[in-house]
Amino acid sequence: MESGDKKLTVDIIDKPARRGLLLIIGWVGFLFFSLVAGLLTTVDFFKPKVIFGPSSRFKAGFPDEYLVGKVSTRWMKEKGVWIIRTERGIYAFLAICRHLGCIPDWVEEEHLFKCPCHGSNYNLEGDVVGGPAPSPLFRVVVSYAPDGQLVIDKSIKEDRVGVREKGQFFLPV
Ligand code: FES
Repeated sequence: MESGDKKLTVDIIDKPARRGLLLIIGWVGFLFFSLVAGLLTTVDFFKPKVIFGPSSRFKAGFPDEYLVGKVSTRWMKEKGVWIIRTERGIYAFLAICRHLGCIPDWVEEEHLFKCPCHGSNYNLEGDVVGGPAPSPLFRVVVSYAPDGQLVIDKSIKEDRVGVREKGQFFLPV
C-alpha cells in the first residue's frame, strides 16, 4: 500500500517534467534545422548563377586549311558549324535546320544541306530550296584571331539577304 502511493507520487511529478523535456528537445531540433535551412538558402542565394556550357567562340584553324569551293564538315560534330570557303572569302553556317531544329547533312554530290527530319533542303547560300523550313540557315560571325587563325562566334547569327553576305558574316581572304 505504501509503495503504491510512492509510485503514484513519482508518476505525478515525472510526467510534466518529461513532457517539458520533450518539448525543449523538439524546439531545439526545430530551431536547429530552421537555422541550417536558412543558412543553406542564404549561401545558395549568393552563389553565382552561371551555367558553364561550351563556349560559342572557337578557333577554327588557318584559312589555308580550307579548300576553295568546298564545304568543310570539320567542325560539324564538335561545334555544329559548317565552314565554306569561296574564291573571295570564308563564311560559316550554324548546322541547325530552321524548321524544327534538326541537324541537316551536307550532301556533297547534290551540293545541298539536307535535313533528314522533314526534308528541308538548303543551297550553298543557306537558302531553302525545298521542304517546310521557313527561313534560310543562319550564318555566324567569322573573324581573325591575332595569330591569323579563324575565329567562329556562334553567339551572333544572321539570315537576312543583303546583311548575311558581308561585314562580320563574311571574311575576305
Ligand atoms: S527539322 Fe528540318 S525539315 Fe523539319
